Amino acid sequence: MRVCIFNNYQEMSRIAAAIVGKCIQTKKGAVLGLATGSTPIGMYQELVRMHRSGELDFSQVITFNLDEYVGLSPLHPQSYHSFMQCHFFQHVNPPSNVHIPRGDAANLALECANYEAAMNQVGGIDIQILGIGSNGHIGFNEPGADAEGTTNVVKLSDCTIKSNARFFSSPNQVPGYAVSMGIKTILDKSKTILLLANGVDKAAAVRHMLTGEVTPAVPASLLRLHSDVTVLLDQAAAQELTERTFVSTESRSPIKFSFLKGKKDGKSTDVGRYRYYTFGNN
Ligand code: GLP
Repeated sequence: MRVCIFNNYQEMSRIAAAIVGKCIQTKKGAVLGLATGSTPIGMYQELVRMHRSGELDFSQVITFNLDEYVGLSPLHPQSYHSFMQCHFFQHVNPPSNVHIPRGDAANLALECANYEAAMNQVGGIDIQILGIGSNGHIGFNEPGADAEGTTNVVKLSDCTIKSNARFFSSPNQVPGYAVSMGIKTILDKSKTILLLANGVDKAAAVRHMLTGEVTPAVPASLLRLHSDVTVLLDQAAAQELTERTFVSTESRSPIKFSFLKGKKDGKSTDVGRYRYYTFGNN
């Protein structure tokens, strides 16, 4: 697992876009797993800038979004379909194939099964973008989620409803359920995972994800079972991380987590103006 701590949100977003852009440039038909929420907006803005400056062409790109609210049509202003149009798709040339789960499908079980099948058909996801909820959720996989779960209908926690109410006129307007890629989907189908977090509200979840028990009670901690994860943080989201050594015995291969700030042993280096730590099994 690699952890990069940036001075601010803009730098974090710029590097995230550079990593995604490199994937698009190096693989024809790159498959992107995309996330919504406030966190990746800066990354999308930077990808749009790169497109406008001629650096990125999306015409061969295939995308799969993580989730969608149950009951909202794609045209609903707070649907994740609308979010993606507003923040990304309408500003770039159309990808060859865009997939976002339909929260208004008549048969949601079939919608979920078809979504899994579509990911299988393209050979999985080359790079999966994730945010993190303040309760440690990924996608809409809430604390206590099934670690073996695939794309499914999931119930939103009170914490998430409260947090996402800022986008709706009141908390009772927030749908209670969502269609979300499951934890197993994310872990098994993503070749690379890029998780972004900014702001102090995410600091406790980030600390647990990186240093706490690997447990479905904090879904993001299960990412430590994946062999290729990069975590990009701003200073505020990283503020609860300390210089200590952590040992996890609950990972696929037991791994040592070390924060080695400033040491010149090859495990911790300064890259440009941000701090870069490598720890765990890659
Ligand atoms: C939402 C989304 C997640 C997102 C998270 C954090 O509910 N389902 O994919 O990562 O919550 O959102 P934000 O980036 O707005 O803090």
